Amino acid sequence: MVSGVSLLMVLYQIGSTFAISFSDFARYVHIQQKDGEVPFDPTHKWDTRAAGQQYLLGVGKADITGPVVELELMGYANSSQIGTGLRQRLYSRSFIIGDPTNPADRFVYMVLDTQSGDTAIRNGILEGVAALGSDYAVYGQPNIAVTGTHNHNGPGAWLNYLLPTITSLGFDKQSYQAIVDGGVLSIKRAHESLTTGTLSYGTVDIEDANINRSPYAYLANPADERANYKSDVDKFMSVLKFTRASDNKDLGILTWFPVHGTSMYGNNTIVAGDNKGIAADMFEKAVKGLSTVADGFVAGFSQSNVGDTSPNTLGAWCEDGTNVQCTFDFSLCSGVAENCHGRGPNFTITDRGATSAYTIGTKQYDAARSLYDNWQSQTTPINGGVVKAFHTFQNMSFYQFTLPNGTHVQACPAALGYGFAGGTSDWPGSFDFKQGNNGSSDGTHSNPLWAVVSTALRSPTPEQKECQGIKPILLDVGEMDFPYAWAPDIADIQVLRVGQLFMIISPGEATTMSGRRWKTAIADAAKGAEMTGSDEPLVVLGGPANSYTHYIATPEEYGIQRYEGASTLYGPYTLPAYMNLTTYYLPYLSSNAPATPLAPGPSPPDNRAKALSFISPVVWDTGSFGQVVTDAPKTATAGQLISATFQGANPRNNLRLEGSYAYIQQQDSSGGAWHNYKDDSDWELVFNWVRTNTVTGTSTATLDWHIPANVPAGTYRFAYFGTSKTPVIGTLKEFSGFSGSIVVQ
Ligand SMILES: *[C@@H]1O[C@H](CO)[C@@H](O)[C@H](O)[C@H]1NC(C)=O
Ligand SMILES: *[C@@H]1O[C@H](CO)[C@@H](O)[C@H](O)[C@H]1NC(C)=O
Ligand SMILES: *[C@@H]1O[C@H](CO)[C@@H](O)[C@H](O)[C@H]1NC(C)=O
Ligand SMILES: *[C@@H]1O[C@H](CO)[C@@H](O)[C@H](O)[C@H]1NC(C)=O
Ligand SMILES: *[C@@H]1O[C@H](CO)[C@@H](O)[C@H](O)[C@H]1NC(C)=O
Ligand SMILES: *[C@@H]1O[C@H](CO)[C@@H](O)[C@H](O)[C@H]1NC(C)=O
Ligand SMILES: *[C@@H]1O[C@H](CO)[C@@H](O)[C@H](O)[C@H]1NC(C)=O
Repeated sequence: MVSGVSLLMVLYQIGSTFAISFSDFARYVHIQQKDGEVPFDPTHKWDTRAAGQQYLLGVGKADITGPVVELELMGYANSSQIGTGLRQRLYSRSFIIGDPTNPADRFVYMVLDTQSGDTAIRNGILEGVAALGSDYAVYGQPNIAVTGTHNHNGPGAWLNYLLPTITSLGFDKQSYQAIVDGGVLSIKRAHESLTTGTLSYGTVDIEDANINRSPYAYLANPADERANYKSDVDKFMSVLKFTRASDNKDLGILTWFPVHGTSMYGNNTIVAGDNKGIAADMFEKAVKGLSTVADGFVAGFSQSNVGDTSPNTLGAWCEDGTNVQCTFDFSLCSGVAENCHGRGPNFTITDRGATSAYTIGTKQYDAARSLYDNWQSQTTPINGGVVKAFHTFQNMSFYQFTLPNGTHVQACPAALGYGFAGGTSDWPGSFDFKQGNNGSSDGTHSNPLWAVVSTALRSPTPEQKECQGIKPILLDVGEMDFPYAWAPDIADIQVLRVGQLFMIISPGEATTMSGRRWKTAIADAAKGAEMTGSDEPLVVLGGPANSYTHYIATPEEYGIQRYEGASTLYGPYTLPAYMNLTTYYLPYLSSNAPATPLAPGPSPPDNRAKALSFISPVVWDTGSFGQVVTDAPKTATAGQLISATFQGANPRNNLRLEGSYAYIQQQDSSGGAWHNYKDDSDWELVFNWVRTNTVTGTSTATLDWHIPANVPAGTYRFAYFGTSKTPVIGTLKEFSGFSGSIVVQ
């Protein structure tokens, strides 16, 4: 291994000056047909469409908030970014679409407030849904899509592959189980709500909510292709609305818009849903009670071709005292990446990106809401009645295929390039690399997991080097299996379809142009096979989903080897491989699809039982739990930030799923009973937890209330609910604490 970030940067710069050269691979092996597989034949007309416009529809939401303290947050790969509290609970939101005339034709689109979908999580969900009984046998491998919002502010340590769990010190069962259980519960709730209804689709533009953070790579795409688009990121949101037939009330909306869940910075330690979690919560609360809205309405704000997008809309700046913009080509400040930071709309407020997250979330809510309020005039009904899904696993390692122009190429075993270690302007430096490359002579390392796994680091084979082309290989992750697989070589290939709407379920973060090419390829193939009759095919892309295959840059962007290209695992032809496979299997989405379902393909490794963990469990708590340490003020006014501090216990003792650690309670005007007014789902209330003594096990919980301008005058108080763990025996006990009354004028 090389040592030191600066050496990495030098190698990275050398690597990126290589000319782009895509070699044609001489060895061409014909695609292996799987049993029952039907290759795409553009001359065959596949569809005899049903006339139906009614679908079986269901929506469901459940809490997935894992351990909010003493665990690394997932996304920035910063081992010091350990949770210290909760601003907003995280959710799974499931949407079921089915064919009422054929119960087998159904799919689930799940949106998790997590960094991505994942193989371990998906396996857990598949097992959990199977355990619900025979009513649920219709849901399984082919038709469950597990997508993540790409939120970087949730608890981590739940992923199947080793690499993304190194900085979290391994795998955490509690964190994993919270997501799985909530995911399953959201499907159960969606299933129990199934009813017939209609779907309609519209788009709305959103200005100033995303920018391209790698325009230098984007500009490598052909000029004539770029000329088709007015921006270097997609500025529109797609919205699918679910409406119940019986009373014409809306069950939910599902939206797609590309923007990274990195409004809150890599130094934030309070769990929240970032901009998409905020938008979803805002929408659900704002429309509650409207005459057009059904009880249990669910708003899913799903991620799209997110790869090169950033919510830091003011651009990337050097925070090294120079106050200049980072270099255009490699986002450097005085030659290094560390000091280059993206700035969100409210970067001057020193709250680690929270206000910027709120602003970018509000923009997504506002756009979805304005479209929702003007629905009829701007939307397209989803026609044709066909509901289909396919899923297969593909081993990408040396997968050989033909480009549309006839050239034979291949995908490669997964590998990460040097640019990966540099991180991005959303947060520089990834995966503990400084520490990972600490070349201390005795081989010790401050991260015990790196110390164990560093022996697995290996040099790529000449075949792999040739396959990866211009990418200088830093981590040959696809060929590393010690102590278990580091990154997926086997990718999920999945597409869903309802009527003329196709949903690409992308296992990686497709860049802006990758998403455009992929969607166009699916639309063209569907049109070529006349799958949607007189309706134009509509295509959305959701992800990262089902697994986490890092990035998907175009071959031209790959040639630049910025972070996104360096993190494009399967080599220069990663995107063409996904496009080839998804279009190849498209006939499985036609109304007269082959009777034999698509073969499942090779199973990816299930690492759940093997996973290492260096994460310490809760030892014990002591103290007068719930006792007020610092009381709230007796009076307060709108716009103020007020707090109360209690003697606490470790929140990991009880995740309070579907419940809350913190409440603002309001007293009835008669001066009597208290009722819950705000809880852990509300942005304005923050729960902070601090371990005050690791030996005696004392801790404090501080509740902050950012009183909004429109608060009703009245009498309020803070309420704190916790669970303590007794020393030695480890018994868990419930407790609560209440602040004094606060009169808000
Ligand atoms: C990592 O997180 C810590 C703790 O919040 C923060 O102080 C630090 O700035 C972060 N560093 C990086 C490189 O992300
Ligand atoms: C955050 O930025 C937005 C957009 O510039 C602005 O409208 C808003 O007032 C700012 N919020 C605060 C609290 O300053
Ligand atoms: C968090 O990171 C941002 C972005 O670099 C920086 O501006 C801010 O000062 C940091 N805040 C704290 C409290 O470290
Ligand atoms: C994937 O393909 C590679 C190369 O052909 C092979 O070595 C590997 O065993 C395959 N993996 C699985 C799980 O089939
Ligand atoms: C995908 O590659 C296979 C194998 O080379 C080829 O037969 C097929 O035509 C390609 N399909 C598409 C849709 O590009
Ligand atoms: C086909 O496309 C690839 C990738 O763009 C290119 O490298 C190759 O030269 C093209 N082949 C032909 C025959 O045009
Ligand atoms: C490398 O890690 C060891 C053990 O944590 C530490 O003592 C040493 O100072 C580190 N060296 C460098 C150059 O950071």
